[in-house]
Amino acid sequence: MEKKIFSGVQPTGNLHLGNYLGAIKNFVELNNDIKNDCIFCVVDLHAITVKQDPNILKNNTRETVATFIASGIDPKKSIIFNQSKVKAHSEAAWILSCTARTGWLSRMTQFKEKAGKDKEKASVGLYSYPVLMAADILLYDTTHVPVGDDQKQHLELCRDIAQKFNNDFKVEDFFKVPEPLIQKEFSRIMSLKDGTKKMSKSELSDLSRINLTDNADQIINKIKKAKTDPLPMPTSKDELENRPEAKNLIEIYSSLSGLTLEKSVIEFSGKNFSKFKESLSQVLVDKIQPISKEIKKLLSEKSFLDKILKEGCEKADKIASNKMKKIHEIMGF
Ligand code: TYM
Repeated sequence: MEKKIFSGVQPTGNLHLGNYLGAIKNFVELNNDIKNDCIFCVVDLHAITVKQDPNILKNNTRETVATFIASGIDPKKSIIFNQSKVKAHSEAAWILSCTARTGWLSRMTQFKEKAGKDKEKASVGLYSYPVLMAADILLYDTTHVPVGDDQKQHLELCRDIAQKFNNDFKVEDFFKVPEPLIQKEFSRIMSLKDGTKKMSKSELSDLSRINLTDNADQIINKIKKAKTDPLPMPTSKDELENRPEAKNLIEIYSSLSGLTLEKSVIEFSGKNFSKFKESLSQVLVDKIQPISKEIKKLLSEKSFLDKILKEGCEKADKIASNKMKKIHEIMGF
């Protein structure tokens, strides 16, 4: 069966190794399979759920497109566009917010994490953010959504919204109920400074993540400084369970080198971390440096990136407006 793929990435700068291994690397594989129809969205409406500088946002949108292309997504094959330019997203988000229940949204752990202690000061948008994400997905009859592990709960909510809408309006199968595509391994890359915390754009210390724009020296330096534990390298996969930093670094190595986790553990079993870190830096530089160079090159071709977005928006708008027309009929508008 042909798969309809949709996924989104926020243009909030500092796209990192977690975004790459958890999501973008899979986008590229899905893009390369001719049986798939892929749409990759730069979700600028999601970005404004926290304060953004408009000029920086504009550049970050281009940088996200550049990252997609530099990583290997072909804009001739996949639709790449930015969310704010296809109006159906905002409209569908409102309509679906009347289907979603407040009880469902209050259970979202990402809101609790992002809002922090002072929930009263969080924007309403940050709270209803997963409804907009459901709108993104459902407008395109998406069958599969490739994401990292942190988006799992949002996808379950999207499925609930689709099913409730179909039931409420007695329109069986109108919204397709999408399947998440979350890898079994490497779907949650952790901070280089704390193996129990997710690698994240918003973490203050730049040493906590490998950015996709980092050069070789920065990568080597960050891996040198990455937190480890005082023991030698683990000798079995089971040992990883109680050693979060070692687990994260070996998983990164395994994912990038294409070796299984078992083989990666055996390769460095009982050695000291400094030897392992040299090999890890090498696979990282081999993978990230070409991407980072290409991003920088593409960023100097602003009109090329803008053209990709414009063409992508036109294609996406056709599909989304068509679905929106049908939603209007269903709603009695
Ligand atoms: P965002 O922009 O936070 O992250 C983009 C993608 O990167 C994945 N990711 C990670 N994967 C593994 N380890 C990590 N440390 C890590 N950090 C981030 C995320 O899981 C995500 O796949 N709400 C979404 C964007 C979105 C979306 C959508 C996704 C909006 N609409 C529709 C899918 C479908 C987000 O904020 O992702």
